Amino acid sequence: MAAKAIQPSGRERTFPEDEIIVSKTDRQGRLTYVNDVFLNVSGFTEAELIGQPHSIIRHPDMPRCIFKLLWETIEAGREIFAYVVNLSKNGDHYWVLAHVTPDFGPNGEIVGFHSNRRVPRPEAVAAVQPVYKRLLQEEAASADRKQGQEASYTFMMDLLKREGKPYAEFILGL
Ligand SMILES: Cc1cc2nc3c(=O)[nH]c(=O)nc-3n(C[C@H](O)[C@H](O)[C@H](O)COP(=O)(O)O)c2cc1C
Repeated sequence: MAAKAIQPSGRERTFPEDEIIVSKTDRQGRLTYVNDVFLNVSGFTEAELIGQPHSIIRHPDMPRCIFKLLWETIEAGREIFAYVVNLSKNGDHYWVLAHVTPDFGPNGEIVGFHSNRRVPRPEAVAAVQPVYKRLLQEEAASADRKQGQEASYTFMMDLLKREGKPYAEFILGL
């Protein structure tokens, strides 16, 4: 569990197009490595981040079902791309296009996870925002967190069915 929740400031920040925000985690999603770009954008120190759950930078505007999909995919040994809005330490937010992959040990077992994030195209963020808003509405209308996650997950899967595209194609086509 992350310590105390950061209050969003409503201010957006960004980072240069040629920079990559990198983090690595253990199997449970606790941070084991962050690069300097991560530190600059998030405003945290390395000491504040290492050993903490990755949810330390979670923004309340992120639908739970996106993280469910993320974990299902990487736990199955596959990669996933996702648009994610994160919180900096002071409450500012920043959008990323994350590419999350499993790290494998010598016997092919998953030993941790790795995320590389780039600045997303503004049009892609504009396209994903109403989808996330709709998913959050599904979650808010549910009795509890668990049911909310299931409801928004089902909504997302139905949306993909209607679009006739698998998740990766839908996301990277935005
Ligand atoms: C390699 C990796 C990178 C992740 N990156 C982020 C991230 O940038 N922002 C985020 O909110 N969650 C990220 N997560 C997902 C978190 O582990 C967590 O599932 C999410 O923040 C939801 O937390 P909650 O279930 O406590 O609300 C990442 C997970 C992994 C394994």
